[in-house]
Parts: sequence; structure tokens; C-alpha cells
Amino acid sequence: MWWIPTAEAQSFMPPAATKIAESVDSLYGFLLISSLISFVILMGGLAYFVNKYRRRGADDKTAYISHNHTLEFIWSFVPFVIFMVCFGWGAKIYLDMRAVPEEAMQIHVNAKKWDWEFTYKNGRKITSDVDDKGKKVPATMVVPVNKPVQLIMTSTKINQSDKKDRAVLHSFFVPAFRAKQDIVPGRYTQLSFTPTKKGKFYIFCTEYCGTGHSNMLGLIKVLDQKEFDDWVIGDSEGGPKEMTLAEKGKEIYKTRACIGCHSLDGSKMTGPTWKGLFGKERVFADGSKATADENYIRESVLNSNKRIVKGYPPNNMPSYQGQLTDEDVTAVVEFIKSVK
Ligand code: CUA
Repeated sequence: MWWIPTAEAQSFMPPAATKIAESVDSLYGFLLISSLISFVILMGGLAYFVNKYRRRGADDKTAYISHNHTLEFIWSFVPFVIFMVCFGWGAKIYLDMRAVPEEAMQIHVNAKKWDWEFTYKNGRKITSDVDDKGKKVPATMVVPVNKPVQLIMTSTKINQSDKKDRAVLHSFFVPAFRAKQDIVPGRYTQLSFTPTKKGKFYIFCTEYCGTGHSNMLGLIKVLDQKEFDDWVIGDSEGGPKEMTLAEKGKEIYKTRACIGCHSLDGSKMTGPTWKGLFGKERVFADGSKATADENYIRESVLNSNKRIVKGYPPNNMPSYQGQLTDEDVTAVVEFIKSVK
């Protein structure tokens, strides 16, 4: 249908546009070639022996062969070594993929039925659009080349106040980056990549999420640093200035009673201070520990009595479940990150 945005067909695999993508391709190439060699040895051997040891007459009897240690060792050990190489190689790529560089630029990704939304720290929100001809223009994330990017992703309902609507699972996939991560309602997942090529790359949803799943296209535009800076500046000119995510979070802090119990200067009030909270290790009343990351803060806001920081009384904070939207919670997270 003409009004549905479509991705252009590309070659066997789209050109690798991140460092990780190149390592993924090397491993994939190794798997392909080693499988091909094994296939030739196996099928060639089969054909050769089928012919060599075919039954030549009615009284042609097969010799009695029980086993052969050398052969058995070779056909077990050689595949074992190959499999271990694949495992080690894959594990290394996976760990590289999951490591987030400290200086990574963070962008929030919101998936909903059936579209993408990208929110930058400066409060700029990018959604899909419709052009003059009524054709949908997919939401386009803009990032600079050769700079690490970290996506903090969640899934929400289309309309947060609609009680019947439900958020569903999605998965963020950029084939050219060989990067993929599930997006789960009610929690944050993350994905990081460092684009190495300028250009436009497609984002697909790769978790079946309902009727509009196949339309759930997005784009990533990779610019050089200067073009990216211009884009950011061009963006802040004209129009009403938007609040940054952290500023929005501060508003919530002041207007939704957080301020009554959480200090910003390190002093102890009814609840723990927010100063330097993000990324810190928390020790709970039951002795367990956790790092204060996005998911921990989300839990503390929405399910406030689940884990109580040691030294604070239980059941002291009301739950904000249903009081704050997912976007509000994300803004609070960003505000807490900014209180250093
Ligand atoms: Cu969203 Cu499939």
C-alpha cells in the first residue's frame, strides 16, 4: 500500500555500519565457510564411500568392524575445537556489544503500537510525521558518526490515560548495525552502538507486536560531528524553548511532593538524598545490594516499598503507580542523574 513506508531491499546483508557489525560479519563468514567445508567433506565422503563399498553381488558380505579409536577421537575433537572457537568468539562480540562506553550519548527510545519515539536529553522529541502527499515519514533518530550512543528503551501505551489499552513487547533492530534489543513495558532495557558510517539506516521492530508490526519502521541518520552540532543548534532556534528531560524531572520533584522527603544537597531527610544517587550502590534493610540504575529508580518511584534503603523506615513513601506517566518517570530518572 502506497501510504505505508517501506524499506528498500538491500543485498544479502546491509553494509556494516558499526565496529560490532564488522566483527559480527567476520564470525558469520567463519560459520558459513566452516559449514561449507564440513558439508563438502561430509557429502563428498558419503558419495565416495557409497560408491566404493557398494554391494557388488549376492554373496558380498560386510567385514565385522567394531570401532576405531583414532577416527572417533578425530571426529569428536575437531568439531569440539571448532564449536569452542565459535563460542568464545561469539561471547567476546556479545560482551563488546553490551559494554556501554562512559561518554556515550544517551537517547530515550519509546516503542508503542506501532511507532517509535526518540527523546533527547534536551527535551527534543522526535516522532513520525506525514508529508504533503500524506505519506508517512518514519521517526528519524539523528546521531553523530564515530560517537558511542546508548539507547534507554521502554514500551508504553499509545494513550497513557486509556485504561483498556496495553503496552506490548517490541524489539529494536538495526540490521546495518547488527544491533537488536527487546523492549519491555514497565522497565528499561538498553542498547549501545558506535556508528562508523554516515548515512541513513533502517530500524525495524522484530518482535511480533500486532497488526501494525510490519509498519513499525524508523530511521537513524548518521551525520558528521559538525552537521550534528548544526542540527542541534538549528533545533533550539525559534519556537518555544522546550524543557530538558532533567528540567521536567525537577518540576515533578517540586510539584509532586518528592521535595518534602528527598534533599538535593546530601542532607538526610525522611528519605535518602538524590545527590549523587545515580550509579551508586544501595544497601537495603534485608542486607541485599543493588546499583541505582534506571530500573532501580523506576521501581523506587512506582513500587516504593519493595526495597527499603538501610536506615530508613518501611512504608514511608506512597507509590506513584498511576500518578506519574512513563514519560514522567523517565524525566525523574534524568533529573536524578543530573544531581551530582
Ligand atoms: Cu513493534 Cu513489532
